[in-house]
Amino acid sequence: MRYMEQNIEIKPDGTKIVGGIEFPKRKVWVKTYGCQMNYHDTERVLSHLENLNFTPAENQDDADLVFFNTCAIRDLANQKFYSHVGGTKNLKKTRKNPNPKKEVKIAVGGCIAQTESKEILKKYKHVDFVFGTDVIDNVGEMVYRTYAENKQFAVTSWDRSADYSIETKITHGNPQAFVNIIKGCDKFCSYCIVPFTRGREKSRSLAEVVNDVARLVNHQGIQEITLLGQNVNSYGKDNGESLAQLLYALDLIEGLKVIRYTTSHPYDMSDELIEAHGKVTKLANHVHLPVQSGSNSVLQRMLREYTVEHYLGLIKKLRASNPNIVVSTDIIAGFPNETLSEHKDTLKLLKDAKFDFIYSYMYSPRKGTKASRMEDLITDDIRGERLREIQKYQLELQFAQREKMVGSKFRVLVDGSTIKGGVKKWKGRSSCMRIIHFESPDDDKDLLWNWVDVKVNKVTALSSYADLLEIHGKKLSSEQSAQNA
Ligand code: 5AD
Ligand code: SF4
Repeated sequence: MRYMEQNIEIKPDGTKIVGGIEFPKRKVWVKTYGCQMNYHDTERVLSHLENLNFTPAENQDDADLVFFNTCAIRDLANQKFYSHVGGTKNLKKTRKNPNPKKEVKIAVGGCIAQTESKEILKKYKHVDFVFGTDVIDNVGEMVYRTYAENKQFAVTSWDRSADYSIETKITHGNPQAFVNIIKGCDKFCSYCIVPFTRGREKSRSLAEVVNDVARLVNHQGIQEITLLGQNVNSYGKDNGESLAQLLYALDLIEGLKVIRYTTSHPYDMSDELIEAHGKVTKLANHVHLPVQSGSNSVLQRMLREYTVEHYLGLIKKLRASNPNIVVSTDIIAGFPNETLSEHKDTLKLLKDAKFDFIYSYMYSPRKGTKASRMEDLITDDIRGERLREIQKYQLELQFAQREKMVGSKFRVLVDGSTIKGGVKKWKGRSSCMRIIHFESPDDDKDLLWNWVDVKVNKVTALSSYADLLEIHGKKLSSEQSAQNA
């Protein structure tokens, strides 16, 4: 019998009894690596664990269950996880109680778990179970099994059903939510491990996503959503639907204020979607459109299926569709056999494209990918040098871009604060994803998750500083837009 179908009894002390196994109140500690998709998956796992009496632990030492949600995108992410998981062996040993039921359990999920489950179990005998990216909704069952059997196991199967149907689960109380609309990736860029760790593309239906978001807005106080997918603008292809259609439908939800989506691929940036950037009123003034390289020959070796000219044409059309749009990108430095002139083409692209910010990385060979089988003459020293050159040049360009913000007003959703030199500074993000810091004259007023209007008075390449103009409270009225102050 599946554990979900078993009777659940609750004892007076709150202990749950599921299928004869006791689940007292326990703590789970999570370490998440990688992208927003992983952070979103972690939240999903936590919501399933809540049903088995787990609440988040403040630190690793208080945990009954330690869960690693791993990332495999670059070798650095793998290294961080391996050194961390090795250290948890002591955690198991130092627990005083020798009763195996009280023992700390260690679970590993995410992208490394999907492709290296056997190696993890073999190398780390203290890991209790490993599970892949397509079975996270079965994590309750796995936790039940680990307490029932107390022996190592791995679950890395793919979900073979035709539909992709889920309900977004959030455990936090803030007004921003990630909503997964498509999983997997069919692009197989030559350097990328994602198609191997996340499987084939599968989209949720448009009707399901709209109902899901309406529920989040009406019942969980959500005002800003970020639609998620490894290749989000490929959404809906399998169902004859599209991201643009979804955006128009979500725009009609009363109470929803901001819609974002990430990450998109230039190949799927359709004219319909570009037009939506000018017409969908709640769509943020920002698009993240990874270009990876400014050289056509490198793009060809990366199997990216577009040219630099095509890419620049796309952002020109996006800027015509929404003149306030801000564009950011991802760049890989030192792809196998990248020549100096190919590298210089990337610097030129940075200048031509006028990105507001970039994420840039040194190329890292990933096992199983086409690029990892290319003979490569570039050394890590050269890659590092090129990366630093890219980053330095971008910061110069970025500062020049952002200087234009001084004197402009922005509407911002406050998402945190810091205290520097005894002065409290609030921070939030504009619709165009820029981080803006400001002070409030009223020290005691808690502005977290308030909408405020600010006027920028100073910028650096990475941040902007502003004067507070007006506080609107935690909800904007139906006439107020999140886009402009
Ligand atoms: N090496 C370096 N960067 C990579 N990315 C993906 N795979 C690799 C790799 N093997 C980068 C790309 C992608 C971002 C999420 O990570 O720029 O857009
Ligand atoms: Fe990786 Fe390319 Fe898919 Fe993005 S589109 S996840 S870079 S294979």
